[in-house]
Amino acid sequence: MIVSFVQTKGGTGKSTLALNTAFSRRIQKQFQSIALVELDPQGSLKNWWIQREEEGRNTEKVSFHHISSTQKAVFQSGITAIAEHNELIIMDIPGESTGKLHTRFACASSDLVIIPMRTSTNDELAFADNLYPIIREITNIAPEKRKTFHVLPSFTHPQSNNKKIFEYFSDILPSHLECMGVVYPHRSVYENFNRDGMNLMEYAFSVEQNKRNAVQASRAVMDIEEISKNIIDLLERNNGSPKKKKKTR
Ligand SMILES: Nc1ncnc2c1ncn2[C@@H]1O[C@H](COP(=O)(O)OP(=O)(O)O)[C@@H](O)[C@H]1O
Ligand SMILES: [Mg+2]
Repeated sequence: MIVSFVQTKGGTGKSTLALNTAFSRRIQKQFQSIALVELDPQGSLKNWWIQREEEGRNTEKVSFHHISSTQKAVFQSGITAIAEHNELIIMDIPGESTGKLHTRFACASSDLVIIPMRTSTNDELAFADNLYPIIREITNIAPEKRKTFHVLPSFTHPQSNNKKIFEYFSDILPSHLECMGVVYPHRSVYENFNRDGMNLMEYAFSVEQNKRNAVQASRAVMDIEEISKNIIDLLERNNGSPKKKKKTR
């Protein structure tokens, strides 16, 4: 199964979300092998992973793959090969710099496309101009793909009323495009956790003794767990994943 974080606009949290969901407890529990794939020639996750290796951190069930090619045939066959050995692929897709080739590929080939987006006119316009035309093109050919695309309200104020945020998105988004039932709040810990190749969970552990930082970090860990839970629920809903299906009452 393939989950992609896509947004033609840069700096919306794609890479941060990709790496932390890959290491989340829920994803770790659900899947036996997880490939974190960076399809970005710039390779910010690659540098982070190299630091992880230098620090000798536990990779858990995650393997990292960086595909720097901008040729579709190359990254397409790369993903096919990775899919043979991994139950879940989490793809980090670059912004506009690569002529949207990666975006198009991710939108067409993923089981779930998560679109982190702020409640701002800027993000709204960028989405309408750049990403939505690609989604529309794909869903016109394959209407069943509509359920694949989900907006994740991102950089929301930690104290904001989530219900209002969901209403905002249901107003501005085309009717068939769903908003996830969870938000990705703005928190300064997301700017600091990744030094020395740490993931959020490891960071939370490292600041356990500092009460203030520990509270912030554990809130962020909970955000990621909630987002991961939503991802799993959506995958099960869309694909009827037979794995570890819980009995419903
Ligand atoms: N929830 C968040 N709150 C505050 N800052 C964040 C959050 N998520 C990411 N950031 C910061 O914003 C910047 C862009 O994040 P990144 O994940 O690299 O976005 P993208 O991959 O979409 O370009 C980084 O400096 C990151 O540390
Ligand atoms: Mg990125």
